[in-house]
Amino acid sequence: MAETFDLVLRGGTCLTPNGVVEADIGIRDGRIAAIGDLSRDQTPESLDLGGLHVLPGVIDTQVHFREPGLEHKEDFATGTAAAALGGVTAVFDMPNTKPSITDAETLDDKCRRMVGRAWCDMAFFMGASPNNTDELAELERLPGCCGVKIFMGSSTGSLLVEDDATLGRVLAQGTRRCSIHAEDEPRLKERQQLVEGGAPATMHPEWRDVESAVLATKRVLKLAHATRRRIHVLHISTAEELPLFQDHRDYASVEATPQHLTLSAPEAYERLGAFAQMNPPIREARHREALWKAVQEGLVDCIGSDHAPHTREEKDRPYPDSPGGMPGVQTLVPIMLNHVSEGRLTLERFVDLTSAGPARLFGIAGKGRLALGYDADFTIVDLGARRRITNMWSASRCGWTPFDGMEVTGWPAMTVVRGRVVAREGELLGEPQGTLVRFMET
Ligand code: DOR
Repeated sequence: MAETFDLVLRGGTCLTPNGVVEADIGIRDGRIAAIGDLSRDQTPESLDLGGLHVLPGVIDTQVHFREPGLEHKEDFATGTAAAALGGVTAVFDMPNTKPSITDAETLDDKCRRMVGRAWCDMAFFMGASPNNTDELAELERLPGCCGVKIFMGSSTGSLLVEDDATLGRVLAQGTRRCSIHAEDEPRLKERQQLVEGGAPATMHPEWRDVESAVLATKRVLKLAHATRRRIHVLHISTAEELPLFQDHRDYASVEATPQHLTLSAPEAYERLGAFAQMNPPIREARHREALWKAVQEGLVDCIGSDHAPHTREEKDRPYPDSPGGMPGVQTLVPIMLNHVSEGRLTLERFVDLTSAGPARLFGIAGKGRLALGYDADFTIVDLGARRRITNMWSASRCGWTPFDGMEVTGWPAMTVVRGRVVAREGELLGEPQGTLVRFMET
């Protein structure tokens, strides 16, 4: 019989739009060419996936891979290696690099830098600044761009859209879903004296308090409504923000991070010090529980890791001189699968949050589903594997993870990007051949 596929994945339990089914998957030219019983097919290249689950490739829509300018923390090679080893097949990279990504030249530079160095597919955010508001409608449509990112509160880097007038102008420019870091800069500035001159890291959620997040989210929801713009509020961190979204579901979507769903104050700060510092902060357990309820009730649309690596030396500086951010791209899948194993969400909901959700929110072309003609991107997982997350396992240049020492059930066994196995049981395979994520015309 003639060979019809480049590769066949045999006998895995597949998370398809038609449910969870035992099926073979035939791959041709980097896309899914058949799903079903391919036992009579003679393709010599095949992988036996008995006992494993085949999920659509996990898309992490919030990572900071630090290139250009901050490569001592991370670069595209190390960041995407961490992604692939962690079961992530595509990432959206943030614009707060050095220089910031605010025009066509800086975006194009990123697109060129990833060629031959990325282990997974990538897209890049365009940063909004008071100086590029008039060009954003054009900029957000450039190839490789996944949309505009707005920092309403300052964090790592200099990108900031502080006032409502500028925010309104940004939202009025363009049509794609706009991603928002919602912390209220005037309030953050006002409260900074609480920690200035030195404070314990446990003060982080006091300085950047619940009200700072609530104020910003209220402001951006109102302006999104007024400008009829779709928005995506990143790393939601408070119980108080969640009900605000219920009346704005037509245009507002919500991201949660594994860190906010797993860690809580004050324990995380007591254990990790400033290594637990991120913006918006890890907060008390009641917020974490509210986030879980929002995951279970369908209010949360996607999970992003907010992978924000900083070196140990930088994190060791006395708070608040230590930078905010934790790595997370490599631990997203194991941490969330552990939550699946502990019964907090189903595997189907995990897929909804990490593949279908990102595809729906951002209009990704050809990814996010196990379906004919879609890219052959797979996160192949062993739900029964018990493993320990360690700093040693971390491929990020920063070399640490807030989850060091944690034992989890559920582990990425194999990562397939457009038909090529790029990682298997902790090892990268072949050459980095990541390409730009494609988007549907709007
Ligand atoms: O904790 C954070 N770190 N939050 C951000 O918004 C930025 C990020 C970074 O780039 O370090």
